[in-house]
Amino acid sequence: MTTEPTPRTSLPVAGLSNGATGPTADAAPVRPSRTFYDEVGGHETFVRLVDAFYAGVAEDPVLKPMYPEEDLGPARWRLTAFLEQYWGGPTTYSEQRGHPRLRMRHAPYKVNPDARDRWLTHMRAAVDTLGLAPIQEATLWDYLERAAHSLLNTFED
Ligand code: HEM
Repeated sequence: MTTEPTPRTSLPVAGLSNGATGPTADAAPVRPSRTFYDEVGGHETFVRLVDAFYAGVAEDPVLKPMYPEEDLGPARWRLTAFLEQYWGGPTTYSEQRGHPRLRMRHAPYKVNPDARDRWLTHMRAAVDTLGLAPIQEATLWDYLERAAHSLLNTFED
């Protein structure tokens, strides 16, 4: 998977229907299925995830200085909006920031193995606070882990 997602309006989730009672001849569903964003609890869940993540980042002596703004609030908004969009929620991120281009946007920062592992450690702790169903947790974590590995851009200290 790539960290340059096409914004998803839906992510098929096995066993879920769109609420329609059955196929009709003339009407395609407006919103074909519930998305992963919906499944895990929508906005509230992503806010909790990212707040917990940034609580860890704020205490991290390597990651915190990488953030250009002293106030992590704007960074928190960007990551929340990005993840919500990625998982089929509102597309506010792209409306305000354009295409994610995550590799490009991380180019100014030294994402070496240490930074990546610290990022993942805080994100793992944050995911663990959510109490998701195992399949949802695995889906989310699989993506985050691969995304973090894909953003590695140097082996220098
Ligand atoms: C691998 C370790 C990572 C490090 C050290 C890191 C660090 C940073 C830093 C310092 C910023 C700038 C602050 C900001 O503009 O918000 C940033 C921005 C951002 N990061 Fe990361 N990041 C990492 C991985 C990830 C991953 C895996 C994702 C997505 C799953 C991600 C998503 C974002 C987003 C969406 C932004 C804001 C982009 C924008 O709109 O300007 N980052 N990151």
